[in-house]
Amino acid sequence: MYKQEVINFYNARTNYDNDVTRNRAVALFDYTTLFPGQQVLDVATGTGNIALEAAKKVGTRGSVIGIDIATELLKIAQQKIQAENLSNVQLIEVDAEAYQPESNEFDAIYCSFAIVLFPNIPKVLKNWYRFLKEGGFIAFTCSSEDSYLALSILEACAKHGVTLPNLHKPLGTPERIQQLLTQANFTQIEIHPRQLGTYLSLETAQSRWNGQFWLHTDNPLRELKSEKISQIKASYDDEIATLETEQGVWHEELIYYVVARKE
Ligand SMILES: C[S@@+](CC[C@H](N)C(=O)[O-])C[C@H]1O[C@@H](n2cnc3c(N)ncnc32)[C@H](O)[C@@H]1O
Repeated sequence: MYKQEVINFYNARTNYDNDVTRNRAVALFDYTTLFPGQQVLDVATGTGNIALEAAKKVGTRGSVIGIDIATELLKIAQQKIQAENLSNVQLIEVDAEAYQPESNEFDAIYCSFAIVLFPNIPKVLKNWYRFLKEGGFIAFTCSSEDSYLALSILEACAKHGVTLPNLHKPLGTPERIQQLLTQANFTQIEIHPRQLGTYLSLETAQSRWNGQFWLHTDNPLRELKSEKISQIKASYDDEIATLETEQGVWHEELIYYVVARKE
């Protein structure tokens, strides 16, 4: 059920690409270097923002595999690959948690704005460690646990006796990122925070959550009656109104750009 929700959510986002989504993804290249001839995996490639950039960097002697579960976004990625005449990118429609390439195959594994969507992050990290060649690296982004007004959403639910699990919690602090990566044997761990937050108008901030939608394997909102959902949504709107300042409502997006190596 959860994976299907993820597929439906991203298949509906055929307008995914814009300057913001592209720039925040390719910012991973500010912290990593690829060389001609290298083999790269882009996990949850979506519309291929990382995969295309990586393909240009590794050149025709290198290759890039982009994997994703959202067919509609992969179609957009394929169109972009054709438009740019890139012959070294292969797209595969597969669940990242089920993908099992050869061991020691990749010089680099990227995963931009997606890792928290995988229910078993420790297992995914162990797999990535195995897929990497010695000396290879992983590079991914994750967000602080209080990004995207999550705390206001959690607070509104708590007022009505509903405990909402936060998707961003497992990798939501530098300490937890460090711990999970160390457990998976990664070394030379770098965590680069970037604040991409902005002020939103009150109406926009309130419209950021409809009282119902929440991506998580354990999502108690799925079971609630519409009346209760409306009450929670009203509490969320009240909660957001208390955050309004002259500049608007601060919408935190503290992104951790993470790089770690297999020695
Ligand atoms: C926020 S988008 C990021 C896309 C791209 N990495 C970028 O930064 O432009 C999240 C992507 O994760 C993909 N995704 C989520 N769960 C997945 C899974 N289990 N296996 C493969 N892809 C998954 C979604 O389909 C979506 O394309």
